[in-house]
Amino acid sequence: MSPFHITRTLPEDAMAAALRADVRHGLTADPKTLPPKWFYDAHGSDLFERITELPEYYPTRAEREILADRAHEIAAALPARTLVELGSGSSEKTRYLLDALTDLHTYVPVDVSESALEQAGRSLAAERPGLDVHALIADFTAGLTLPDTPGPRLLAFLGGTIGNLLPDERARFLTGLRALLAPGDALLLGTDLVKDEAVLVRAYDDAAGVTAAFDKNVLSVVNRELGADFDPDAFDHVALWNADHEWIEMRLRSLTAQTVKVPALDLAVDFAAGEELRTEVSAKFRREGVTGELAAAGLDLTRWWTDGEGRFALSLSVAR
Ligand code: SAH
Ligand code: AVI
Repeated sequence: MSPFHITRTLPEDAMAAALRADVRHGLTADPKTLPPKWFYDAHGSDLFERITELPEYYPTRAEREILADRAHEIAAALPARTLVELGSGSSEKTRYLLDALTDLHTYVPVDVSESALEQAGRSLAAERPGLDVHALIADFTAGLTLPDTPGPRLLAFLGGTIGNLLPDERARFLTGLRALLAPGDALLLGTDLVKDEAVLVRAYDDAAGVTAAFDKNVLSVVNRELGADFDPDAFDHVALWNADHEWIEMRLRSLTAQTVKVPALDLAVDFAAGEELRTEVSAKFRREGVTGELAAAGLDLTRWWTDGEGRFALSLSVAR
């Protein structure tokens, strides 16, 4: 069994304060919004894992195909001693990288979901003698401090989760990532690609209703943490393609005129019948856009791989 450490870089009261600020801000805004990071309590993390197995949700399978084919090329391009992974979740696809990176000393999974980190980190440490697993419970948008581990460092951000940040958040985030790397270190980035609207909408509105349950889970998180009285059945899950921004939006549409109380914030929130609360954007990318956003942050794209159907891309970029 290898060493397994789990460090909470965000004290629980800071997480609670962040949720309160986000809910107050988002539910009093027009239009109403909530940030997607609050989907991922233990139940939300489980629902996400179920999404990855749905026939309609292609990104996980497409990215796994690329990793299975290319992990050795990635390892040859950067024989990393430390692998840092943001939004690591179950770390399931990461296993291809862990197998290929033969000089690896430390794996640092970073996630807001303690349950996902505990499960994934403990089993990886148990399975891989000699690998130091140092998990961080942290918000990757809030300024990260990484443990002092040997370089070179490969930073992986898989799954297309970068698409869940808005464009201005993405620019700040990528600049912050660059600051975590030394020249010659690299970023391995998963990005879902622009494609047929019907394929995209189906991926976010599956027939079995798992994505709808994931979407509504954010209401249950606000109920539990802030004593709110959202009735998840009083909202419909909506997924739509925003062609101007080239992103999918997930929304919750109020079925009736209703008032929701959030006692911890001393707030009453009115919803008109049909009013929508935006819970997530999931941006889809083109190669030129990814190259430009990385370059603006001081990262030079050197490799670009897609799955056989051209649905999803993995890129490797090197810190200048
Ligand atoms: N990388 C995995 C999981 C993707 S799901 C995969 O490709 O399948 C997105 C993950 O990012 C979840 O585990 C969620 O808990 C985490 N996450 C979302 N927002 C976050 C944030 N702001 N900071 C840290 N982790 C975050
Ligand atoms: C984590 N992230 C990349 C997922 C996505 O596709 O945007 C979250 C998700 N939302 C609905 N289904 C999956």
